[in-house]
Amino acid sequence: MDVALDRIGKSYGGTAVLREVTLDLPGGRVHGVVGENGAGKSTLARVLCGAVRPDSGRVTVDGAPVRLRAPRDALRHGIALVTQEGAIVPGLSVLDNVFLGTPHATRRRERFAALLDRTGFDLPAAARAGDLPLVQRQRTEILRALAHGARLLVLDEPTALLPRTDAALLLALARRLAADGTGIVLISHRLEEVLDGCDTVTVLRDGRHVSTAPAADRTAGGLLEEIAGRPVETRYPEPEPVPAGSPVLLEARELSRGDAVRGVSLRVRAGEIVGLAGLVGSGRTETLRLLFGADRRDSGEVRVAGRPLRARGGPAAAIALGMALVPESRAEHGLVLVRPTTENLRMTALPGRRPLRVVRRGAERRAAQATADGLGVRGTGLDRPAWTLSGGNQQRAVFGKWLVRRPRVLLADEPTRGVDVAAKAQIHRLVTDLAARGTAVLVASSEVEEVLGLAHRVLVMRGGAIAGECPRGAARAGDVLALAGLR
Ligand SMILES: Nc1ncnc2c1ncn2[C@@H]1O[C@H](COP(=O)(O)OP(=O)(O)OP(=O)(O)O)[C@@H](O)[C@H]1O
Ligand SMILES: [Mg+2]
Repeated sequence: MDVALDRIGKSYGGTAVLREVTLDLPGGRVHGVVGENGAGKSTLARVLCGAVRPDSGRVTVDGAPVRLRAPRDALRHGIALVTQEGAIVPGLSVLDNVFLGTPHATRRRERFAALLDRTGFDLPAAARAGDLPLVQRQRTEILRALAHGARLLVLDEPTALLPRTDAALLLALARRLAADGTGIVLISHRLEEVLDGCDTVTVLRDGRHVSTAPAADRTAGGLLEEIAGRPVETRYPEPEPVPAGSPVLLEARELSRGDAVRGVSLRVRAGEIVGLAGLVGSGRTETLRLLFGADRRDSGEVRVAGRPLRARGGPAAAIALGMALVPESRAEHGLVLVRPTTENLRMTALPGRRPLRVVRRGAERRAAQATADGLGVRGTGLDRPAWTLSGGNQQRAVFGKWLVRRPRVLLADEPTRGVDVAAKAQIHRLVTDLAARGTAVLVASSEVEEVLGLAHRVLVMRGGAIAGECPRGAARAGDVLALAGLR
């Protein structure tokens, strides 16, 4: 089945986000789509699957124009979207989710087994989908798409939240499905995976189709320049040395919670960036949440600039002492998505000082605008709700929300997930600048290169405890992985 986009245009409130995009998506191939945050990738995906109606242009299937008014229309034509956020029904079983809305509800077990066979997935049919880890929920969604007979599978940043091994499995599956004749659209910010895993790669910039070419003819460097439209700096900024005698701003002693965190002790000084590495489930996120008071610790002590943080104080007590957390899930904990972006950017700048109403609106708006500019948060209007920002721009906004406060201690969990390569470098610079001005930073990332490039030193977690420490430098990646238990 060949799907094509023909001069697709889409605007929001006068701002064009897709401009005359024409693209052929023949079956049997993996098509990569790359572009900066806000370039229009997700909008394109939503047009394909009927979730967004274009203002102009048309979608054709095997040459014939089709009307896609809702996702079910697209599904009828064999087009399905799998998003990063996921769209499973958490209260239903895996089996029920997979066959949700399929016309023929017979022989479900057999068909489920056949789907597992085809994909090589191992999924518990009876498990409640909401209880499953992310990888499994994503697999449930892919099975659902296939159960509906999808012939074009659109994957919007499917690997952004996945550890490397799972990402590789997903890419291998995409290949196999393509070999069977299914078309795959793979949206991603990971250029190596796009170059390795796709047949063709399309670059979008500012809603325009810039180019489509075989992956084999492309290089990461070349792609980067096309994506940004200019040369891009991607090297990690060198952090400034921590001044001698710099005070300890964050200290944890024997921090524990159940099996997730077991006796973690650490110290971070003013101006210091400490990385937290480890495999998924090693306790990185849990440790940050305990430090911040987002979860209650069973035992142990936390001090901020020498002052004890009450175990029962929750995040409010942590914030009062000057702590900030950029959480792993921006939609759940980072932003109030229904409120305007401007309001999100200023919310924490006013912790109970004055009632919101009294603050001069103009001044606030200017401050929010300045923060947005500094971070390169771009959308179709900062007065619109934060959900209208593209995924990567939401991530920048989460950062901005805390930067306006200049925290004493910054805890950041996967700070660059889902942001484009240029923005990644920008966020690294922000972190380095904050540290240079005296903030103590603790940053967790599943990308070993990221923590080693960004931090002064790296703590490696394994099974909820700190397994060891490494100094900065790319040469240390092997050491970190060994400590983490991978090699
Ligand atoms: N419903 C909406 N209302 C207003 N603006 C929107 C809406 N949906 C998307 N936009 C805007 O359209 C532009 C393109 O967004 P889109 O989500 O397609 O980007 P993207 O390429 O997927 O970016 P990212 O890499 O960050 O995910 C952005 O500026 C975004 O703010
Ligand atoms: Mg997107």
